[in-house]
Amino acid sequence: MARKVIIAGNWKMNKSGSEGKALVEDLKGRVAGYNDVDIVVCPPFTTLAAVVKAAEGSNIKVGAQNVHWADNGAFTGEISAGMLKEAGVEYAIIGHSERRQYFGETDETVNKRLKAALAAGLKPIVCIGELLDEREGGKTEAVLAKQIKAGFAGLTSADMNKIVIAYEPVWAIGTGKTATPEMAEETHAYIRKAIAGLFDGTTAEAVRIQYGGSMKADNAAELVKQPDIDGGLIGGASLKADSFADLIKNASSK
Ligand code: 13P
Repeated sequence: MARKVIIAGNWKMNKSGSEGKALVEDLKGRVAGYNDVDIVVCPPFTTLAAVVKAAEGSNIKVGAQNVHWADNGAFTGEISAGMLKEAGVEYAIIGHSERRQYFGETDETVNKRLKAALAAGLKPIVCIGELLDEREGGKTEAVLAKQIKAGFAGLTSADMNKIVIAYEPVWAIGTGKTATPEMAEETHAYIRKAIAGLFDGTTAEAVRIQYGGSMKADNAAELVKQPDIDGGLIGGASLKADSFADLIKNASSK
């Protein structure tokens, strides 16, 4: 089954409104016509409005980096799925390893955020991945199985059809160490098998699984060529229009 490649830029805590607008205006021209790839940029909350406006009428979609599980209420500093929808946001990253590491995110809170995002009609990009000592201790599959089982608890196959999974080995994020295409493929195939076990084969075949962790223009083609790698979630290389556009072009089959 052909799954459409999805390349998403996670800007993390980078780019003001004016910088984000300039980046997207530059990127638009460079990636026009690359319609075989879903292109997403995920700026910080305060940059969303400028980027949504700059991306209007282009093939660039906009995502948030987090979403709260409640519709509204006493949750100082949080943003709801409905607020993001109203702002013109289409995707939401959920459970990024930096949120798990620094902000107390757990599989349970991932699950709550995910359900709220789905209920509001956002398209969730759910991040999973193992730490270096877990990889070295031979625990990668067990860690991913737990993240998948608890993160996707209570969801239906129809829900899974709206979700993108981002596999980000934590040891490869911002370190310049990319998993080799073979190593990444092996893990992606395992994730797809785990989804088949929890849901069914058709759902597993349809779900898109992105790779994330030091993905760049020069390793993108090799990674997305792997049968179970359907795109990338990009940090550093998404912060400049030229490097991100080159990466998108190399991931495209055009
Ligand atoms: P880098 O591409 O900078 O390694 O970051 C990956 C990432 O965390 C994307 O969410």
